[in-house]
Amino acid sequence: MKKIAFGCDHVGFILKEEILAHLQARGVEVIDKGAWSVDRTDYPRYASAVAQAVIDGEVDGGVLICGTGVGISITANKFPGIRAVVCSEPYSARLSRQHNDTNILAFGSRVVGLELAKMIVDSWLDATFEGGRHQTRVDAIAAIEHRDQ
Ligand code: RB5
Repeated sequence: MKKIAFGCDHVGFILKEEILAHLQARGVEVIDKGAWSVDRTDYPRYASAVAQAVIDGEVDGGVLICGTGVGISITANKFPGIRAVVCSEPYSARLSRQHNDTNILAFGSRVVGLELAKMIVDSWLDATFEGGRHQTRVDAIAAIEHRDQ
């Protein structure tokens, strides 16, 4: 992934700034969808902005950070076509790309420290979707999204 959108709430703001700089140093182009301070705010707004950017093809993927990564990933997963994973270790981050073709990575600033967060993000970005039998399963997820249409 060459272009990533970032989103966070006030609890994730400081870690977002650090991870954003880490990815820029890796040569990744980043688009910051907020929040832009530690002033109290609500994570659905930023999760929505990042999810929409992924769906629109403005970016290749997204990174979301709130206190736990839970609320912000739940929100992103409401958007058809979004496969957001919340994880706190690199193994699941890597496998979520290889097997589940996740297009958004979420984690919690109250759960992981900076160095672990960097490992999680790097593992996620370095992995690629393997397709094959995993594509069949991802297609089955999409079919569930469209079951009422
Ligand atoms: C904010 O207090 C907190 O609820 C939020 O950052 C996140 O952890 C929600 O899932």
